[in-house]
Amino acid sequence: MTMDLATATSPAQDTTPARTARPRRYVMTCPEYFSVEYVINPWMDTSTPVDTGRAVAQWEALRQTYLDLGHTVDLVAPVAGLPDMVYAANGGMVVNGKAVVARFAYQERAAEAVAYAAWMADHGFAATETRHVNEGQGDLLLAGSMILAGHGFRTDRRAHHEIAEHLGMPLVGLELVDPRFYHLDTALAVLDDTTVAYYPPAFDEHSRTTLRELFPDAIEVATADAYVLGLNAVSDGLNVVLPAAATGFADQLRDNGFRPIGVDLSELLKGGGSVKCCTLEVHS
Ligand code: ARG
Repeated sequence: MTMDLATATSPAQDTTPARTARPRRYVMTCPEYFSVEYVINPWMDTSTPVDTGRAVAQWEALRQTYLDLGHTVDLVAPVAGLPDMVYAANGGMVVNGKAVVARFAYQERAAEAVAYAAWMADHGFAATETRHVNEGQGDLLLAGSMILAGHGFRTDRRAHHEIAEHLGMPLVGLELVDPRFYHLDTALAVLDDTTVAYYPPAFDEHSRTTLRELFPDAIEVATADAYVLGLNAVSDGLNVVLPAAATGFADQLRDNGFRPIGVDLSELLKGGGSVKCCTLEVHS
């Protein structure tokens, strides 16, 4: 009887691919001036009190998680009066030595682009601007050698063409249809060069077909995980840092050979962001 059990679970029959971590370089901005002062997405409510000290402690734990995994974290100095600056992913897109700086959809965040462009310039990336709105890695995610690009709420479709041309990379546009998932990184996570996880109802029919064709082995997450921003995760190819509340997604990751690492960013969720939003990856 034990023989049967052994056969059923033998490694030879395990089709889960081996996952490997690659050291990454991230850019983060401390939420020293974080608060919810205006409403530009459905998660924000100015009547909800924000504990900035707690936000800083949670963010610090995220930074330490990356350091413990062996990644590099560069810091951009926070600017008073820019309460959303902690969401560094929105600062732009850096890949293959080229950079595009954000052009924010809302005036409240416009000045953040100045700070992120300065960081890019100081680190040897001459940042290009787009004529149309682009909110950086909120909507632009590198998957292997292509860019998955969201539109519908923030990044303008016309900016997709500007970005593909500047970076010299193929870009696949994906339309977001649910305001709760207003940036691509709230509805889709890139886990490695060929694997993604996403929440199908956040996309229009055509984009869902595109995703099924491009990623037949994708992980489709459940509503409960999507609604705690579980997909706002950061992967190094093996370790996936994600909101701790997304326990179903964590199980799916484990079943697929990844190592989920849950972190609590509950204060930052009040601004409509979590792990990935706080993390701008410098793709080299
Ligand atoms: N309050 C910010 C906004 O609405 C949150 C940005 C979250 N960032 C992200 N990459 N999804 O713009």
